[in-house]
Amino acid sequence: MRTFEAKISFDKFPIIIGINIFDNLKAFLENYSKKNIFIICDKYFKDNINFYTKSLSFIYEYKSLFIDGGLESKTIESYKLVIKELVNENISRDGIIIAIGGGVIGDLSAFVASTYQRGIDLIHIPTTTTAMIDSSIGGKTGINHLDQVNLIGSYHNPKAIFMDLRLLDSLNDRDFYSGICEAIKMSVTSDKEMFLKFLEIDKLVAQRNLDTLEEIIYWSVLTKLKHVSNDYKEKSMRLILNYGHTFGQAIETYYGLYQEKLKHGEAISLGISIASKISHLLFNNEESKNLLMKTKEIVNKYNLPDNFHKLNTSDIPSIKPLIKNLLNDKKRISEGNRFIICESIGNAKIKLLSDENILIKGFEYIY
Ligand SMILES: NC(=O)c1ccc[n+]([C@@H]2O[C@H](COP(=O)([O-])OP(=O)(O)OC[C@H]3O[C@@H](n4cnc5c(N)ncnc54)[C@H](O)[C@@H]3O)[C@@H](O)[C@H]2O)c1
Repeated sequence: MRTFEAKISFDKFPIIIGINIFDNLKAFLENYSKKNIFIICDKYFKDNINFYTKSLSFIYEYKSLFIDGGLESKTIESYKLVIKELVNENISRDGIIIAIGGGVIGDLSAFVASTYQRGIDLIHIPTTTTAMIDSSIGGKTGINHLDQVNLIGSYHNPKAIFMDLRLLDSLNDRDFYSGICEAIKMSVTSDKEMFLKFLEIDKLVAQRNLDTLEEIIYWSVLTKLKHVSNDYKEKSMRLILNYGHTFGQAIETYYGLYQEKLKHGEAISLGISIASKISHLLFNNEESKNLLMKTKEIVNKYNLPDNFHKLNTSDIPSIKPLIKNLLNDKKRISEGNRFIICESIGNAKIKLLSDENILIKGFEYIY
């Protein structure tokens, strides 16, 4: 078990990673009146009780609401439903919301917590690799609206995060590896040693070995914290986390929000493949060639796509709409486009790229 303190901007809170950790949660909740504790939980855990999910049986001791996981729930309708329940249950400003689920339940609950009565306390209990590695860390909250991802949102850090690694046991392979992709991406941009370790431990990860998962998730949380703690509202350091995202998002925009053809982590996998190609085109040396080859090797080892033909669809876009989506990206600035590229494994940079030919060649690489 790992217990440590996270610091983001002026906020400090404990993060606990391990197994059998919910006694610590119960102790933490003694700071709150029981009638003021409200749990928002992924409905998966109501419908699927097994040896591991049984550890969540404490839910039934508190006021709670179950909501389906999946992007269809990250909506203004779900937001209104939760607010109504909080009012019905008389949760007051000194209460606390506990979010149990993947990134969808986490982002929705955190947005509710940041706005209900101008903001109440929150605990995250992330249950997917995406939520443990990425979405529960960094304070971003949000719901999708008008077909736009996180169009409505805020920043709101939790009071504590509890990650029980055994909950990952029931996650399907696609969601599992989709989240792992975020960790791989961070190793490409900031930690060569960890990247090389990822190349070695793929079989242990596939077995969901608890020690290996603890090591990966602990490293990921520390790495994400390092990127966000001094740059809470996304200025420079935090942008490095967008490696592969800008390209991936152009592809995600093509497929749309509510579909099973492309998961977010799969889009990132295609995105880091494109970014490795563009990086090699720009630097054209042994280091950049190594980045290109090893990126291909690692995504293959982790069941992630490095080209369109490995997706769960025969619907393959042409390059033109992808470039258009890319240039419309919200992170565009007036002098051109900021992209994150890598000079070598573990060494990312922000670069302005205005040569469309290089971008086209990058996309061609994944056909
Ligand atoms: N706030 C941030 O910084 C941030 C960062 C990355 C992603 N996100 C958001 O996260 C969301 C995606 O998160 P996600 O991939 O966790 O999706 P999700 O929450 O929809 O979970 C994926 C699926 O797994 C199920 N599930 C959850 N835990 C499970 C478990 N332990 N066992 C079996 N099934 C389980 C869910 O019911 C759902 O069907 C997106 O909305 C994305 O925008 C936010």
